[in-house]
Amino acid sequence: MISYKKELDILEKSNRFRKRKIFDNNIIDMASNDYLGLATKKKLFKKASKELLKQKYLSPKASLLVNGYSKLHKKFENKLSKLNKFEDAIVVGSGFLANISLIESMIRKKDILFIDEDYHASGILATNLAQGRVVVFKHNDFEDLENRLKEFNALNYRTMIAIEGVYSMRGDIAPKEFNDLALKYNSILLVDEAHSSGVIGDNLLGWYDYWNIIPSKNHIKMGTLGKAYGSYGAYILASKEIISFLENRAKPIIYSTAPSLFDITLAYFNFKHIIQNKVKIINKIKQNQNIIKKYLNIDVNSLIVAIEINDNQKVLDIQKYLLEKGYIIGAIRQPTVKKAILRVIIKNDIKKKDLLEVINYLQNFRYNRKKL
Ligand SMILES: Cc1ncc(COP(=O)(O)O)c(C=O)c1O
Repeated sequence: MISYKKELDILEKSNRFRKRKIFDNNIIDMASNDYLGLATKKKLFKKASKELLKQKYLSPKASLLVNGYSKLHKKFENKLSKLNKFEDAIVVGSGFLANISLIESMIRKKDILFIDEDYHASGILATNLAQGRVVVFKHNDFEDLENRLKEFNALNYRTMIAIEGVYSMRGDIAPKEFNDLALKYNSILLVDEAHSSGVIGDNLLGWYDYWNIIPSKNHIKMGTLGKAYGSYGAYILASKEIISFLENRAKPIIYSTAPSLFDITLAYFNFKHIIQNKVKIINKIKQNQNIIKKYLNIDVNSLIVAIEINDNQKVLDIQKYLLEKGYIIGAIRQPTVKKAILRVIIKNDIKKKDLLEVINYLQNFRYNRKKL
């Protein structure tokens, strides 16, 4: 008989076994990627519902390339490309599909992809589908990248550099030097902005905004809607030529149903809300970052606080302890990260008193004042 029990037993033994759970809604959320707390904003949800109910078709029905493309998709694409200053945009079903789309379709036989070792699992998976060569460089290490670019005579090839704006686990920001290298070596720069859009930059637009980079032909931005934008789905911003290439070559765009009309409409209103309220949102982000600096002495530039514990069982125990106190934080284990971490999301809707209480518990564990 075919069985996977042995593999599951191994996962259990090494504290790497996973199980999806439904948590009590009264538990205070400091684990999800709902960075700005939009997942509970019923007013915005109602606006999106009202808008959608005006339409004849309520679901996309087909791929973007058949007749699933609607005015609602286009309106959102136009808003995204205009505000982010990219030539063109295309919506995609999810960030996972967007990474597969970009890497699988764009890395042709003679091309080289240079990718950060901590790039999201969807991008790493896509490297198996890429036809060209894939070179992995050390996390956020632009010197290592430059050595690799030189080693492979990057100027003789069509190349792409793939990084994340804010890294999903450690919450650190990719340095601006990656853009300098992309320009110097005439490389396409792909930035996965899943955790940076809506969180960093003077206009809360993400990594390009944070470093004041005006997008040009070689720049690509991939953003997701399931995080700060409080919805589900993704988008790709790039030159007209690259977007047209994706429309013609990227299988998850051609052969998958167009993104949900409701999710896109909700993301549209949420995005508008973020832009209109950016000053207030930025102030709150800074306030929470300052609290983390003051009490935990950790410099945070995003809304992800990573605390290294390096023990798979211990992160689970700490998570369980906090759950009993009414808070949920992330317990991230190998293989997702090299060393187990607590991932605490200092969401904008967290009350100061709750943040301080969680910090107090974390301080106890961090300085071993509390034994489990
Ligand atoms: C950095 C990064 N890229 C891509 C994705 C995938 O996005 P989605 O959840 O929309 O599939 C995620 C999801 O967690 C992510 O963290």
